Parts: sequence; structure tokens; C-alpha cells
Amino acid sequence: TWTPDSFVETTVAELKEKLGDDKVVLGLSGGVDSTVAATLISKAIGKNLYCIFVNNGLLRKNEFENVLDQYKHMGLNVKGVDASARFLKELEGESDPEGKRKIIGRVFIEVFDDEAHEIQNVKWLAQGTIYPDVIESVSATGGPSATIKSHHNVGGLPDFMKLKIVEPLNTLFKDEVRRVGKSMGIDAELLGRHPFPGPGFGIRILGDITAEKVRMLQEVDHIFIQGLKDEGLYNKVWQAGAMLLPVNSVGVMGDERTYEKAVVLRAVESTDGMTADWVNLPYEFLQKTSNKIINGVKGVNRVVYDISSKPPATIEWE
Ligand code: XMP
Repeated sequence: TWTPDSFVETTVAELKEKLGDDKVVLGLSGGVDSTVAATLISKAIGKNLYCIFVNNGLLRKNEFENVLDQYKHMGLNVKGVDASARFLKELEGESDPEGKRKIIGRVFIEVFDDEAHEIQNVKWLAQGTIYPDVIESVSATGGPSATIKSHHNVGGLPDFMKLKIVEPLNTLFKDEVRRVGKSMGIDAELLGRHPFPGPGFGIRILGDITAEKVRMLQEVDHIFIQGLKDEGLYNKVWQAGAMLLPVNSVGVMGDERTYEKAVVLRAVESTDGMTADWVNLPYEFLQKTSNKIINGVKGVNRVVYDISSKPPATIEWE
């Protein structure tokens, strides 16, 4: 019978056999899958696993620094690459969702490839692909997530990298990945993290992206997510986040009329992201969060809560 312990034992043995003394490169995202994959491979080959964690400037507040620290504490051989400025520059003026995904996917590959070239004689590219990703990339109809996933998460590496691929989690479902992670002693908080899209805030800032909009959304998202954690709601929700709308709305502050941004809060229940229901968060929580955001985040004067389920609405707004 399958147990997380037996999976770890056999997989580590298989990886040792398969990889020998070869060098392997892996892109860490801060998510559950890449973290569990890295930990497994690191157990098998130690420092011959070279992890790269790219900051695309579209991550949650303090995410890059915090997660990089965590990876180092876990003993992973990881290099953090802050490419925020490059991503922002390349995204300048682009407001089409697919256009933004393409730019983010391309720049990620360029940055990753530059870093991979720094490692002499690397033979393998490791990926945290899980079973549903395999299915999705086979059956994909070319929807938004499929497009980026073909670049970003599954299989499709650029020709010039010429690396063999190793995907130790590609037979597992998400809950099994979490159990495997737990059995290797990975921090429960890390394993319980909500899914976060590869293009990050790039698709949660509707329309074009600027440094100021990223700052605003980071603050809003942080208040919302921290609030969910403080109130014991985070683990009851499958995924939550905020979107910054490309509209201004009128408000008042004291005697002044304001004309500032509106943000959306979204929290959903789901098992696989294919369908999702909006979560009936307590009114008091919404009220408190809305006040904190409007009082605390410069440039935002309106908060709305998304009560749309998937289908027909998607989880992301872009
Ligand atoms: P949708 O918006 O399609 O999202 O209902 C379903 C799940 O996929 C995530 N998502 C993405 N993940 N690249 C990713 O890596 C993408 O381009 C992308 N688009 C959506 C979304 O966060 C949700 O978990």
C-alpha cells in the first residue's frame, strides 16, 4: 500500500540511481509542489541540486525574502535572483492578459536560463509537476492557465537548454504531495499555502502594471491574507487573494472628494481549481478587512467582495 514514507524511500533510491553524480537545476516558486520536489531530490543528491528562486516583482509582500530564508533554513542549495526591475520594464504598457502572461513566461525563461548557464555541466531540469498538471497539459484546450503552464510548469523547456527532465511528483495528487512533504518534515505552514498563479500579481492587477500598482496590491493582499490567518480562516479556504481594478471611483475623506482605486477580495473553496465556490466569509471579518484596507492603503477607497462561482467565473480575473 502507498504511504508517504514508502514513497519517499523508493523515490529517493530511484533518484540516486537515475541521477548519480549529475547536476540538476530546479526553479523554486515558493509553492508546495516545487518545494516538495526540491526536498526529495536534495535528499537524494544533496548539493548537486541547484535551486533557483526568481523574484519577478509580482509576488506577495515580503514573499521573496521570507521564502528564500525558509529555503536556506531547510538546507536547500538555493540562489535567489531578484529580477523585479527587468520584469516590470518588459511589462510596461502591456494590458492584455495573455500578452502579460507571455512576457512573464518569456522573461522567466530568459532569467532562469542565464542562471542555469552559470552552473557548469548541468544535466537535468527538475520540475514539481504533479499528476493533474500532466493531465491538463495533455487535454489543455489552450485556456489562460494552459498557455503559461506549457512554458512555466510542465515539460516545455526551450530547445537551447537541452536538459533531461526529472519530475518525481508526476504521479501524485496535491493531497499526496502535501503528505509526502509532511513526512519529510517540511513546515506545515509552507505545505498549507494557497495556490498562487505563476504570473502572480501580473494577472491580479487588471490592465497595465506599474510599480505603484504592485505596491498597492501587495498591501491590500497582505491585509486580507494576514487577516484570514489571524482569524483562523486561512486553512478553511482553498485560495484567496485580491485584484486591483483598472477603475477609479469617487469617495470622500473628511471634506475632500477622492477619486481612487477599487479592489476586489476573492476567496474560494475548491478541490482542484476546475470548479470553485465563493466562500461565505463572516460579515464582521469582511467589515474589519475593508476598513483596514481603506484606512491603510494609500490610493484605494473602495473594497468589493467577489460572489461569483466557477463556472462561469474563473478564479482569477484575467
Ligand atoms: P482560473 O482563473 O483559470 O484558475 O479559474 C484556476 C487555478 O489556476 C491558477 N492560474 C494559473 N496558474 N499560471 C499559473 O501557474 C497561470 O497563468 C494561471 N492562471 C490561473 C489560479 O490561481 C487557480 O488556482
